[in-house]
Amino acid sequence: MAFSRFAIRVILVLLVASVPLKAAGGRRRNPWDPIIRWPLDRREKEENGTRWAVLVAGSNGFGNYRHQADVCHAYQILKKGGVKDENIVVFMYDDIAMNDLNPRKGVIINHPAGGDVYAGVPKDYTGEQVTAENFFAVILGDKSAVKGGSGKVIDSKPNDRIFIYYSDHGGPGVLGMPNMPYLYAKDFIDVLKKKHASGTYKEMVIYVEACESGSVFEGLMPEDLNIYVTTASNAEESSWGTYCPGMDPPPPPEYITCLGDLYSVAWMEDSESHNLQKETIEQQYQQVKDRTSNYNTYNAGSHVMEYGNKSIKSEKLYLYQGFDPATENLPPNRINGKDHMDVVNQRDADLLFLWERYKKLENSAEKKSELLKLITDTILHRKHLDGSVDIIGLVLFGPEKGPSVLKSVRGHGLPLADDWDCLKSMVRLFEAHCGSLTQYGMKHMRAFANICNSGVSLDEMEEACMAACGGRDYARWSPLNRGYSA
Ligand SMILES: *[C@@H]1O[C@H](CO)[C@@H](O)[C@H](O)[C@H]1NC(C)=O
Ligand SMILES: *[C@@H]1O[C@H](CO)[C@@H](O)[C@H](O)[C@H]1NC(C)=O
Repeated sequence: MAFSRFAIRVILVLLVASVPLKAAGGRRRNPWDPIIRWPLDRREKEENGTRWAVLVAGSNGFGNYRHQADVCHAYQILKKGGVKDENIVVFMYDDIAMNDLNPRKGVIINHPAGGDVYAGVPKDYTGEQVTAENFFAVILGDKSAVKGGSGKVIDSKPNDRIFIYYSDHGGPGVLGMPNMPYLYAKDFIDVLKKKHASGTYKEMVIYVEACESGSVFEGLMPEDLNIYVTTASNAEESSWGTYCPGMDPPPPPEYITCLGDLYSVAWMEDSESHNLQKETIEQQYQQVKDRTSNYNTYNAGSHVMEYGNKSIKSEKLYLYQGFDPATENLPPNRINGKDHMDVVNQRDADLLFLWERYKKLENSAEKKSELLKLITDTILHRKHLDGSVDIIGLVLFGPEKGPSVLKSVRGHGLPLADDWDCLKSMVRLFEAHCGSLTQYGMKHMRAFANICNSGVSLDEMEEACMAACGGRDYARWSPLNRGYSA
């Protein structure tokens, strides 16, 4: 079924590519020619501004294939929509396409039957250049603060619109980055405030996929910055990977990793199946919310949230994502079939990946035992992190109150932490004594924030960390090897 749809798409692409070529007597004409595009040009003149975009994949490693696949796919949508490369800044580690484990070398897909989304993606910031610091400098249009990379920044003017899309792991108050430190909510919001104060954009739309991504904006995101935000999850739940091995719908059998994330593929597949000059941001939000909740079951799905200035969502999507003339006759919005999607918790996706990899290793006993060691090490380190945080709670607040203090969630509209420098210091103390938090351990950010919110001093925290973790050798998980996440 999925395959035949793909076959039809291939045939369509071939038809579109060959027919205009003949019609133009050999000269290549295609649907992007000026004659067909003029209605768009007129609208662009009315809008009198440039579209900008920043696309960020915050992870690396083949087990996180899906985040870079999401970002490459987003680029293709904007590109087809006519957004120019000079106005799109891409952050991706770029270790997927040519990865030894990639069954289709040089190709990245974001849907089981999807085509390549990697070709043509600008490599603005790759490898060690994918940092929170560079991301901030790019948003602010601050060329001099950017380290390495293409140097491309959002050099926007007062009439311009900006679209930011981020996909990765997260935790309460943080978004992951492949290079330490992570991106902290307070720093991100400060950057947005600074950008607003500089008067260099008209409006901005931000889409964020990560676990607990709501916590990055909850109680922090002002309504008067002309920015509208949606997130994959609320402040206290996971977001979900999809198109995973062994699930329905599955990736092609040779893939041992998930191809996409639920919220991300929901917005992108929505954008591709509608006329974005007619569909509003609000319509997309509703559609994505439905699909990401797995159609209001929420048993495996999350709550899509919105923050910032909600008047902006009545605008049409093409103002941010552009308009692909090939979608002219698609509906502004269509009630999709209620396709159920199997999903995996972001935090379990890497274990799923390691396990799939293990199963595929056939005859090499040595490689198998190496991989098994990595799997057990990973699980043991997770247990160690969870246990250490529990003990720290016990030491600081006593056996009765400890668990509830660490887990308590502040009311709606309150930020995760009052003092974000305190939060960062607590994270560093923990990592120095208990080893690197890793992607998995980001989930404990709320515990560290609550420790700060309860007025615990750094000395008391250090003592508790020593009690919980003193004297261990963390080897693979040492922050000295991995860098501190704060
Ligand atoms: C376009 O923007 C410029 C500068 O912001 C302004 O001077 C001009 O009047 C605008 N044109 C239209 C048609 O709105
Ligand atoms: C929200 O955006 C609308 C539309 O751009 C604008 O008119 C309104 O003033 C904004 N609200 C705030 C609180 O800034």
